[in-house]
Formats: sequence, structure tokens, C-alpha cells
Amino acid sequence: MQGARRAETMKTPLTARRPWRGRRVVLGVTGGIAAYKSVQLARDLTRLGAEVDVVLTRAAREFVTGLTFEGVTGRRALSDLFSTDGAALHIKLGIEADVVCVAPATADFLARAAHGRADDLICTTLLATRAPVVVAPAMNDRMFSHPQVQANLAHLREVLGYAVAGPGVGPLAVGEGEGPGRMLEPEELVEHVGRALTGPTSLAGRRVVVTAGPTREAIDPVRYVGNRSSGRMGYALAQAAWRRGARVTLVSGPSALPTPTGVGRISVETAEDMHAAARDVLPEADVSVFAAAVADFRPSAPHDEKVKRSRTGPTWGIELVANPDIAGDTRDLRKEGSVCVGFALETGDVVANAREKMEAKGFHLMVANDASEPGAGFEVETNRVTLLDTRGGAEALPLMSKHDVAEAVLDRVEGILREREG
Ligand code: C5P
Repeated sequence: MQGARRAETMKTPLTARRPWRGRRVVLGVTGGIAAYKSVQLARDLTRLGAEVDVVLTRAAREFVTGLTFEGVTGRRALSDLFSTDGAALHIKLGIEADVVCVAPATADFLARAAHGRADDLICTTLLATRAPVVVAPAMNDRMFSHPQVQANLAHLREVLGYAVAGPGVGPLAVGEGEGPGRMLEPEELVEHVGRALTGPTSLAGRRVVVTAGPTREAIDPVRYVGNRSSGRMGYALAQAAWRRGARVTLVSGPSALPTPTGVGRISVETAEDMHAAARDVLPEADVSVFAAAVADFRPSAPHDEKVKRSRTGPTWGIELVANPDIAGDTRDLRKEGSVCVGFALETGDVVANAREKMEAKGFHLMVANDASEPGAGFEVETNRVTLLDTRGGAEALPLMSKHDVAEAVLDRVEGILREREG
């Protein structure tokens, strides 16, 4: 039962949230087999609160139907350039769009877009819009590596400023090889669309380091001392920072979560490994966020072989030694002028204890929460936090998803960065 509940909570349900909520997305679908994945993309974007207008090319309708998309978006799928919706449908779509995403983008579509062709609804919409554009190439790997396709992509990226998402490497359509050429997965494309929707921010181009997850401290080769951290809060922060244009490194202890899109992940196991990784990356960081639940202690002498019960008897004492305080010990490595965020999970006197840690470890912003409150702390999707600043301010936020907490934290970080710049 406990196991089942845990498995269920590992998958984050999609609910309306920034930056998708209330935004208009034109999703162009062109004629490739990856079009089946775009149905999921349309659904995910809709569940995140976007209004999704799907535009299918004639070739796309050989693979998926407009009806399929209507079922998941609740909006009529569009296809005809000349229709009863009015001759200026493409102008309306282009003007109203907050972002245009074309997924899958076939070689033929990329060629037409690169040449500014206006021979179907999606290409005319592209000419009519000034919104950011994301294209997700999907084709056979031999086609993708052809110099003409590469030249078209370079033009879209460099001259027109389109974001090119992927392609990924992995199995292509049956018998076609192993890529690169595979369309990115819907959950990755959702993030690329989110990044385009976020637009320029004070984090653009900045280096952000996030520590996340638990650490595991070996008792013997099969057992460890650890904690119940899932990594969710840190992963949400890393993903949100990438959407805001940052270059993000995630130093993560063991977590079942997938690496956030666009984020570089350094996987570690123990507090000492995390300490070493943090020392390597912190000197370059403009922003550092210590969201990891580092094990405070580790067994002083881990056994090389599995300890047998027959040897231990009815009781077994394990001596523990203190682990390094990663955030505190690396203070002098921080880049000058960088912003440093800490977390504190307490079970009483939350604000007072958190403020003490904030001062001791030199944080500029502290995210404090009460582990004894329902909906806060480990293994849940939500958190109720209080944000402490260096001026003595304490802002209690309502219960919200960890994604929303991440946005609130990064809003404050951006505020500090802007203040420093004057
Ligand atoms: O565990 P504690 O409540 O002291 O954590 C406060 C902050 O210090 C958190 O941001 C946590 O990530 C960080 N920390 C750390 N290394 C430790 C313990 C905590 O970086 N060994």
C-alpha cells in the first residue's frame, strides 16, 4: 500500500501553472510518424492551462486526425488556408499566438519555413506572427544530417531566431536506425514551449547551480543511511531556472526523477561526493540554490562486505560521524556578487531556526517550511513555505505546488539580482 502510494506520487500531475496558464499556443503538426506524440503534447499543454490551436498540414492528416486533437484540446483543429473561418485565419492565429511550436517539423516543412513559403496554414501563420517560434525536427537520421537540412535549420535558428528543440538520439521509425532525428518527447517539448513563453529574464545566460535530493551514506555494500527526500523541490527549481534562460547545473543525490530538460546533471551518492561536486561548480555560479537534504551523518567505518545478521546478534550499533556542511563550507568559493538560496525543514520554531541557519550559512534568501504540516516537506507534490530575506522580512506563502514555490523563489532571486545591478 505504502509502495503503491509512493509510485503514484512520483508522477507529477499536470495542473495549470506558469508560464503556460492562460497563454495561446499554436501547435503546428506536419507529416511525420512522430505526429502521434504531438497528441500528448497538445494534451499536456492544455492541462498546463494553455489554449492550444492545432494546425495540421495535409500530410499530417495521413498520420493523425483533427478529431484526435480536438478531443484533447477542446478546440477545433485547423487545416485549411482557404476556409469558412475567413481568409485571414492565419493572420488572426499569428497575431493572437504567444508562441508557435511546430512538432514534428519534417524536412519538407523546415525547407518551406526557411524560404518563407506561404503555401499552407502553418507556414502563413509563421509569416504573420511575431511570437517566438519553436521547431522540433523529426526525420530519418540520414535526412537530418544532410547539409541542406542543416543549412535550413541554421537559417531558422540564426536568421529568424527560432528555437530548435532536438532532435534526440534514439530508435527511429521501424527499421530506420538510431538517430539523431527522433522528435523530443512531449514532456521535453512542453518545457521548450515554456521557455519560449517565459521570454527574457534577469536569469538569461546566468549560471545557476542547484543541489537536490537526498544523499546515501553506505553502511555496507547493500545498506545505507538516507532520508525521504524525493528531489522534487530542487528539480522544479532547476527546470524553472532553465525556462528563465539560465545555464543550469543540478548536483543531485539519488532521485527517481528524470533530468530536467536542458539541465546538466551531476549525479552523486554521498554528502562527500556532493561536497566535491559543489566545490567544482560553485565558483562559476551567479546563483546557487541548496535544496538538497544532505544526510547530516555517515557511518564512520562502512563495511566492505554485507554484514550478516548471524554476526551482529540481536542488536547492532553503527557509529556515525558528521558530514561536511556543503553550503556553509563552500562560502568562500562563491562568486562575488552571487545570490545564494538555502532551505530549512524544521518541526518547530520554523522562522527563528531558519533565520539562524540563514545567517550561519550566508544565504541571501531562505525557504523555510514545517515538516509537521500536512502537504509540506518530503514525498509530496506541495509545500507551504515562508520566504526570509536579509532585511528581516518573512513572507508566508499559501500551500502551493512545488513548481509554484520554485517560481516564487526565482522571482525573489531575480529581484535581488536586479537590485544589485541598480
Ligand atoms: O539540514 P539543514 O536544515 O541544516 O539545511 C539547511 C541548508 O543547508 C539547506 O539549504 C541544505 O541544503 C544545506 N545543507 C548543506 N549541507 C549539509 C546540510 C545542509 O548544504 N550537510
